[in-house]
Amino acid sequence: MSTLVQGIHHITQCPGPAQQDVDFCTQVLGQRLVKQTVLLDGNIPIYHFYYGNADAEPGSIATSFPYSRKPGRAGSGQISIVCYAVPKGATAFWKPHVERYSIEHGGIQERFGRKYLRLRHPAGMWYEVVEADDSREPWKTKHIGADVATRGFFGAVMSVRSVEEQEQFLVEALGFRKLGVDGAYHRFETSGDGCGSIIDLHHEPDRAPGSWSFGAGTFHHIAFSVDNDEALFAQKALYEELGYTDASEVKDRFYFHSMYVRSPGGILVECTANVSGGFYQDEKPEELGTRLNLPPWYEGQRAEILARLEPVSVPEENRPRRVVKPFSTATPMAAAPAGALSRSNPDFARYER
Ligand SMILES: [Fe+2]
Repeated sequence: MSTLVQGIHHITQCPGPAQQDVDFCTQVLGQRLVKQTVLLDGNIPIYHFYYGNADAEPGSIATSFPYSRKPGRAGSGQISIVCYAVPKGATAFWKPHVERYSIEHGGIQERFGRKYLRLRHPAGMWYEVVEADDSREPWKTKHIGADVATRGFFGAVMSVRSVEEQEQFLVEALGFRKLGVDGAYHRFETSGDGCGSIIDLHHEPDRAPGSWSFGAGTFHHIAFSVDNDEALFAQKALYEELGYTDASEVKDRFYFHSMYVRSPGGILVECTANVSGGFYQDEKPEELGTRLNLPPWYEGQRAEILARLEPVSVPEENRPRRVVKPFSTATPMAAAPAGALSRSNPDFARYER
Protein backbone atom coordinates (compact mmCIF):
# COMPACT_ATOMS: atom_id res chain seq x y z
CA MET A 1 0.00 0.00 0.00
CA SER A 2 1.29 3.45 -0.88
CA THR A 3 2.38 5.77 1.89
CA LEU A 4 3.72 8.24 -0.66
CA VAL A 5 0.52 10.07 -1.56
CA GLN A 6 -0.64 13.03 0.53
CA GLY A 7 -3.82 15.01 -0.17
CA ILE A 8 -5.02 16.59 -3.39
CA HIS A 9 -2.46 18.86 -5.07
CA HIS A 10 -4.59 20.26 -7.91
CA ILE A 11 -7.62 19.45 -10.05
CA THR A 12 -7.70 20.33 -13.74
CA GLN A 13 -10.82 21.42 -15.60
CA CYS A 14 -11.68 22.33 -19.18
CA PRO A 15 -14.00 25.33 -19.25
CA GLY A 16 -15.02 27.19 -22.43
CA PRO A 17 -14.11 30.84 -23.04
CA ALA A 18 -11.14 32.06 -20.99
CA GLN A 19 -12.68 35.26 -19.65
CA GLN A 20 -15.87 33.44 -18.62
CA ASP A 21 -13.72 31.05 -16.59
CA VAL A 22 -11.71 33.83 -14.95
CA ASP A 23 -14.92 35.65 -14.03
CA PHE A 24 -16.65 32.53 -12.62
CA CYS A 25 -13.68 31.24 -10.64
CA THR A 26 -12.72 34.61 -9.16
CA GLN A 27 -16.09 36.31 -8.69
CA VAL A 28 -18.51 33.43 -8.07
CA LEU A 29 -16.16 30.91 -6.38
CA GLY A 30 -14.00 33.70 -4.95
CA GLN A 31 -10.68 32.10 -5.89
CA ARG A 32 -7.38 33.92 -6.25
CA LEU A 33 -6.00 33.78 -9.82
CA VAL A 34 -2.46 32.71 -8.91
CA LYS A 35 -0.93 31.97 -12.31
CA GLN A 36 -1.53 32.64 -16.00
CA THR A 37 0.53 30.38 -18.23
CA VAL A 38 -0.03 27.94 -21.11
CA LEU A 39 -0.55 24.22 -21.57
CA LEU A 40 2.83 22.49 -21.79
CA ASP A 41 1.71 19.77 -24.23
CA GLY A 42 0.73 19.90 -27.89
CA ASN A 43 1.31 22.39 -30.67
CA ILE A 44 -1.46 24.96 -30.21
CA PRO A 45 -1.24 27.56 -27.43
CA ILE A 46 -3.95 27.00 -24.81
CA TYR A 47 -4.14 29.04 -21.62
CA HIS A 48 -3.42 27.36 -18.32
CA PHE A 49 -4.86 29.28 -15.38
CA TYR A 50 -4.23 28.35 -11.74
CA TYR A 51 -6.65 29.43 -9.02
CA GLY A 52 -6.19 28.94 -5.29
CA ASN A 53 -6.60 30.24 -1.78
CA ALA A 54 -4.80 33.28 -0.32
CA ASP A 55 -1.55 31.32 0.12
CA ALA A 56 -1.75 29.57 -3.27
CA GLU A 57 -1.37 26.28 -1.43
CA PRO A 58 -1.35 22.80 -2.94
CA GLY A 59 -4.74 21.38 -2.00
CA SER A 60 -6.48 24.56 -3.12
CA ILE A 61 -5.30 24.77 -6.73
CA ALA A 62 -7.85 24.40 -9.53
CA THR A 63 -6.25 24.66 -12.95
CA SER A 64 -8.11 25.49 -16.16
CA PHE A 65 -7.47 24.78 -19.82
CA PRO A 66 -10.08 27.01 -21.52
CA TYR A 67 -10.99 24.76 -24.41
CA SER A 68 -13.63 26.33 -26.65
CA ARG A 69 -12.24 24.33 -29.58
CA LYS A 70 -14.25 21.22 -28.69
CA PRO A 71 -17.06 20.30 -26.25
CA GLY A 72 -16.40 17.50 -23.77
CA ARG A 73 -18.97 14.88 -22.74
CA ALA A 74 -19.69 14.63 -19.02
CA GLY A 75 -20.19 11.06 -17.81
CA SER A 76 -18.81 8.20 -15.76
CA GLY A 77 -15.07 7.65 -15.58
CA GLN A 78 -14.52 11.31 -14.75
CA ILE A 79 -14.16 13.66 -11.83
CA SER A 80 -17.79 14.75 -11.62
CA ILE A 81 -17.70 17.31 -8.77
CA VAL A 82 -14.96 19.41 -7.17
CA CYS A 83 -15.67 20.19 -3.52
CA TYR A 84 -14.42 23.25 -1.62
CA ALA A 85 -14.39 23.55 2.18
CA VAL A 86 -16.32 26.48 3.68
CA PRO A 87 -16.99 27.29 7.36
CA LYS A 88 -19.93 25.81 9.29
CA GLY A 89 -23.14 27.65 8.40
CA ALA A 90 -21.69 29.24 5.24
CA THR A 91 -23.94 27.40 2.77
CA ALA A 92 -26.70 29.85 3.84
CA PHE A 93 -24.54 32.62 2.32
CA TRP A 94 -23.60 30.70 -0.83
CA LYS A 95 -27.15 30.02 -2.07
CA PRO A 96 -28.17 33.70 -2.53
CA HIS A 97 -24.60 34.51 -3.57
CA VAL A 98 -24.67 32.20 -6.62
CA GLU A 99 -28.25 33.24 -7.42
CA ARG A 100 -26.99 36.83 -7.75
CA TYR A 101 -24.89 35.60 -10.70
CA SER A 102 -27.74 33.44 -12.13
CA ILE A 103 -25.68 30.29 -11.44
CA GLU A 104 -27.55 26.95 -11.53
CA HIS A 105 -27.53 25.16 -8.16
CA GLY A 106 -29.12 22.21 -6.38
CA GLY A 107 -30.15 23.84 -3.10
CA ILE A 108 -28.64 23.05 0.28
CA GLN A 109 -28.31 19.27 0.74
CA GLU A 110 -26.48 16.90 3.08
CA ARG A 111 -24.09 13.96 2.49
CA PHE A 112 -22.19 12.06 5.21
CA GLY A 113 -23.76 14.51 7.70
CA ARG A 114 -22.26 17.61 6.08
CA LYS A 115 -24.27 20.42 4.49
CA TYR A 116 -23.31 21.42 0.97
CA LEU A 117 -24.51 23.50 -1.98
CA ARG A 118 -23.87 22.13 -5.47
CA LEU A 119 -23.38 24.78 -8.16
CA ARG A 120 -22.55 24.81 -11.84
CA HIS A 121 -19.89 26.59 -13.89
CA PRO A 122 -21.46 28.28 -16.97
CA ALA A 123 -19.37 25.83 -19.07
CA GLY A 124 -21.05 22.85 -17.35
CA MET A 125 -18.77 21.55 -14.56
CA TRP A 126 -20.21 21.01 -11.06
CA TYR A 127 -18.75 22.18 -7.73
CA GLU A 128 -19.82 21.92 -4.12
CA VAL A 129 -19.14 24.17 -1.18
CA VAL A 130 -19.08 21.79 1.81
CA GLU A 131 -19.28 22.85 5.46
CA ALA A 132 -16.13 21.68 7.28
CA ASP A 133 -13.60 22.79 9.89
CA ASP A 134 -10.64 24.12 7.93
CA SER A 135 -8.07 26.64 9.14
CA ARG A 136 -6.45 27.47 5.79
CA GLU A 137 -6.25 31.14 4.78
CA PRO A 138 -9.15 32.10 2.47
CA TRP A 139 -8.95 34.57 -0.39
CA LYS A 140 -11.50 37.33 0.16
CA THR A 141 -13.38 39.34 -2.44
CA LYS A 142 -15.71 42.34 -2.39
CA HIS A 143 -18.71 40.02 -1.99
CA ILE A 144 -17.16 37.02 -0.18
CA GLY A 145 -15.82 37.64 3.34
CA ALA A 146 -13.41 35.49 5.34
CA ASP A 147 -16.32 34.12 7.43
CA VAL A 148 -17.81 32.32 4.39
CA ALA A 149 -14.99 32.04 1.81
CA THR A 150 -13.55 28.75 0.54
CA ARG A 151 -10.42 27.46 2.32
CA GLY A 152 -9.24 25.05 -0.37
CA PHE A 153 -10.45 21.67 -1.52
CA PHE A 154 -12.55 19.51 0.77
CA GLY A 155 -12.24 16.75 -1.83
CA ALA A 156 -13.64 15.51 -5.12
CA VAL A 157 -16.28 13.13 -6.45
CA MET A 158 -15.45 10.50 -9.08
CA SER A 159 -18.29 9.01 -11.10
CA VAL A 160 -17.74 5.27 -11.61
CA ARG A 161 -19.88 2.52 -13.16
CA SER A 162 -18.31 -0.02 -10.76
CA VAL A 163 -16.87 0.73 -7.31
CA GLU A 164 -14.74 -2.36 -6.63
CA GLU A 165 -11.69 -1.85 -8.84
CA GLN A 166 -11.54 1.92 -8.31
CA GLU A 167 -11.71 1.31 -4.55
CA GLN A 168 -8.84 -1.16 -4.86
CA PHE A 169 -6.82 1.46 -6.76
CA LEU A 170 -7.49 4.16 -4.15
CA VAL A 171 -6.53 1.85 -1.29
CA GLU A 172 -3.62 -0.14 -2.74
CA ALA A 173 -2.05 2.30 -5.17
CA LEU A 174 -2.78 5.62 -3.43
CA GLY A 175 -3.06 4.57 0.23
CA PHE A 176 -6.60 5.82 0.93
CA ARG A 177 -8.81 4.26 3.62
CA LYS A 178 -12.56 3.79 3.34
CA LEU A 179 -14.70 5.86 5.72
CA GLY A 180 -18.19 4.66 4.81
CA VAL A 181 -21.12 4.64 2.43
CA ASP A 182 -24.00 7.12 2.11
CA GLY A 183 -26.47 6.02 -0.56
CA ALA A 184 -24.59 5.77 -3.86
CA TYR A 185 -21.52 7.55 -2.45
CA HIS A 186 -18.49 5.64 -1.07
CA ARG A 187 -16.18 7.91 0.94
CA PHE A 188 -12.40 7.59 1.22
CA GLU A 189 -9.77 9.64 3.04
CA THR A 190 -6.08 9.89 2.29
CA SER A 191 -3.68 8.43 4.84
CA GLY A 192 -1.34 11.39 4.26
CA ASP A 193 -1.54 14.68 6.12
CA GLY A 194 -2.30 16.83 3.09
CA CYS A 195 -5.34 19.09 2.80
CA GLY A 196 -8.14 18.16 0.45
CA SER A 197 -8.19 14.61 1.67
CA ILE A 198 -11.60 13.24 0.67
CA ILE A 199 -12.57 11.23 -2.42
CA ASP A 200 -16.16 10.09 -2.92
CA LEU A 201 -16.83 7.38 -5.47
CA HIS A 202 -20.31 8.00 -6.87
CA HIS A 203 -21.64 4.66 -8.06
CA GLU A 204 -23.51 5.32 -11.31
CA PRO A 205 -23.71 1.90 -13.03
CA ASP A 206 -25.93 3.10 -15.85
CA ARG A 207 -24.14 6.36 -16.66
CA ALA A 208 -22.50 6.43 -20.08
CA PRO A 209 -18.75 7.03 -20.04
CA GLY A 210 -17.60 10.62 -20.34
CA SER A 211 -14.91 11.83 -22.72
CA TRP A 212 -11.25 11.41 -21.74
CA SER A 213 -9.74 14.13 -23.95
CA PHE A 214 -9.70 17.87 -23.35
CA GLY A 215 -13.25 19.14 -23.94
CA ALA A 216 -15.21 22.13 -22.67
CA GLY A 217 -17.46 21.42 -19.70
CA THR A 218 -15.52 18.54 -18.12
CA PHE A 219 -12.86 17.91 -15.50
CA HIS A 220 -9.73 16.41 -17.03
CA HIS A 221 -7.72 14.95 -14.14
CA ILE A 222 -6.91 15.08 -10.44
CA ALA A 223 -3.40 15.36 -8.98
CA PHE A 224 -2.18 14.20 -5.57
CA SER A 225 0.87 15.55 -3.73
CA VAL A 226 3.98 13.48 -3.10
CA ASP A 227 7.01 14.81 -1.24
CA ASN A 228 9.65 14.97 -3.95
CA ASP A 229 10.94 13.52 -7.22
CA GLU A 230 12.19 10.42 -5.44
CA ALA A 231 8.63 9.74 -4.27
CA LEU A 232 7.32 10.29 -7.82
CA PHE A 233 9.61 7.59 -9.19
CA ALA A 234 8.74 5.31 -6.26
CA GLN A 235 5.02 5.82 -6.96
CA LYS A 236 5.58 4.98 -10.64
CA ALA A 237 7.35 1.78 -9.59
CA LEU A 238 4.45 0.92 -7.25
CA TYR A 239 1.93 1.36 -10.10
CA GLU A 240 3.99 -0.96 -12.28
CA GLU A 241 4.35 -3.50 -9.47
CA LEU A 242 0.54 -3.53 -9.07
CA GLY A 243 0.05 -3.92 -12.82
CA TYR A 244 -0.90 -0.34 -13.72
CA THR A 245 1.74 -0.40 -16.41
CA ASP A 246 0.56 2.63 -18.41
CA ALA A 247 2.10 5.09 -15.91
CA SER A 248 3.64 8.02 -17.80
CA GLU A 249 7.17 9.29 -17.75
CA VAL A 250 7.91 12.03 -15.18
CA LYS A 251 7.19 15.38 -16.84
CA ASP A 252 8.63 18.82 -16.14
CA ARG A 253 5.66 21.16 -15.52
CA PHE A 254 8.03 23.98 -14.46
CA TYR A 255 6.18 24.72 -11.18
CA PHE A 256 6.20 21.01 -10.27
CA HIS A 257 6.98 17.57 -11.69
CA SER A 258 4.19 15.20 -12.71
CA MET A 259 3.49 11.57 -13.50
CA TYR A 260 0.12 10.25 -14.75
CA VAL A 261 -1.78 6.98 -14.81
CA ARG A 262 -5.29 6.05 -15.97
CA SER A 263 -7.16 4.56 -13.00
CA PRO A 264 -9.46 1.52 -13.43
CA GLY A 265 -12.62 3.64 -13.20
CA GLY A 266 -11.40 5.75 -16.13
CA ILE A 267 -10.25 8.82 -14.20
CA LEU A 268 -6.81 10.19 -15.07
CA VAL A 269 -4.73 10.47 -11.88
CA GLU A 270 -1.55 12.54 -11.59
CA CYS A 271 1.03 12.55 -8.81
CA THR A 272 2.89 15.80 -8.30
CA ALA A 273 6.10 16.86 -6.57
CA ASN A 274 6.69 20.55 -5.93
CA VAL A 275 9.96 22.07 -7.08
CA SER A 276 11.86 24.64 -5.04
CA GLY A 277 10.34 28.08 -5.49
CA GLY A 278 7.11 26.72 -6.95
CA PHE A 279 4.83 29.52 -8.19
CA TYR A 280 7.38 32.14 -7.06
CA GLN A 281 10.01 31.21 -9.63
CA ASP A 282 8.69 33.79 -12.08
CA GLU A 283 6.50 36.18 -10.04
CA LYS A 284 6.73 37.95 -6.71
CA PRO A 285 4.24 36.65 -4.15
CA GLU A 286 2.22 39.88 -4.29
CA GLU A 287 2.05 39.78 -8.12
CA LEU A 288 0.85 36.22 -8.62
CA GLY A 289 -1.53 35.82 -11.55
CA THR A 290 -1.28 39.34 -12.90
CA ARG A 291 0.49 38.58 -16.20
CA LEU A 292 1.18 35.72 -18.63
CA ASN A 293 4.23 33.65 -17.66
CA LEU A 294 5.94 31.10 -19.90
CA PRO A 295 8.49 28.45 -18.95
CA PRO A 296 12.00 29.43 -20.10
CA TRP A 297 11.98 26.87 -22.91
CA TYR A 298 8.84 28.56 -24.44
CA GLU A 299 10.04 32.19 -24.12
CA GLY A 300 11.58 32.25 -27.60
CA GLN A 301 8.08 31.79 -29.03
CA ARG A 302 6.26 34.35 -26.83
CA ALA A 303 5.02 36.44 -29.81
CA GLU A 304 3.58 33.40 -31.62
CA ILE A 305 1.88 32.23 -28.43
CA LEU A 306 0.40 35.63 -27.56
CA ALA A 307 -0.95 36.07 -31.11
CA ARG A 308 -3.05 32.91 -30.67
CA LEU A 309 -4.50 33.58 -27.18
CA GLU A 310 -7.62 35.61 -26.48
CA PRO A 311 -6.86 38.58 -24.22
CA VAL A 312 -8.19 38.31 -20.66
CA SER A 313 -8.37 40.90 -17.91
CA VAL A 314 -7.50 40.22 -14.30
CA PRO A 315 -10.49 41.18 -12.16
CA GLU A 316 -10.26 43.77 -9.43
CA GLU A 317 -10.40 41.03 -6.78
CA ASN A 318 -7.11 39.59 -7.97
CA ARG A 319 -4.99 42.69 -8.19
CA PRO A 320 -1.93 42.49 -5.89
CA ARG A 321 -2.70 43.47 -2.33
CA ARG A 322 -1.00 41.19 0.15
CA VAL A 323 2.16 39.18 0.60
CA VAL A 324 1.61 35.47 1.05
CA LYS A 325 3.86 32.92 2.64
CA PRO A 326 6.32 31.05 0.40
CA PHE A 327 5.10 28.07 -1.58
CA SER A 328 5.49 25.04 0.65
CA THR A 329 8.68 23.06 0.12
CA ALA A 330 8.73 21.48 3.55
CA THR A 331 10.69 18.45 2.37
CA PRO A 332 14.07 18.99 0.68
CA MET A 333 13.69 18.47 -3.04
CA ALA A 334 15.46 15.44 -4.45
CA ALA A 335 16.80 16.27 -7.91
CA ALA A 336 15.51 14.07 -10.70
CA PRO A 337 18.20 12.01 -12.39
CA ALA A 338 19.71 13.84 -15.40
CA GLY A 339 17.59 13.27 -18.49
CA ALA A 340 14.77 11.69 -16.48
CA LEU A 341 12.30 14.53 -17.01
CA SER A 342 10.20 14.98 -20.13
CA ARG A 343 9.46 18.37 -21.76
CA SER A 344 7.46 19.14 -24.91
CA ASN A 345 9.13 21.44 -27.40
CA PRO A 346 6.61 22.45 -30.08
CA ASP A 347 7.00 24.93 -32.92
CA PHE A 348 3.91 27.12 -32.49
CA ALA A 349 4.48 29.07 -35.73
CA ARG A 350 4.06 25.92 -37.83
CA TYR A 351 0.43 25.38 -36.89
CA GLU A 352 -2.59 27.39 -38.00
CA ARG A 353 -5.24 28.46 -35.54
FE1 LIG B 1 -2.19 18.35 -13.61
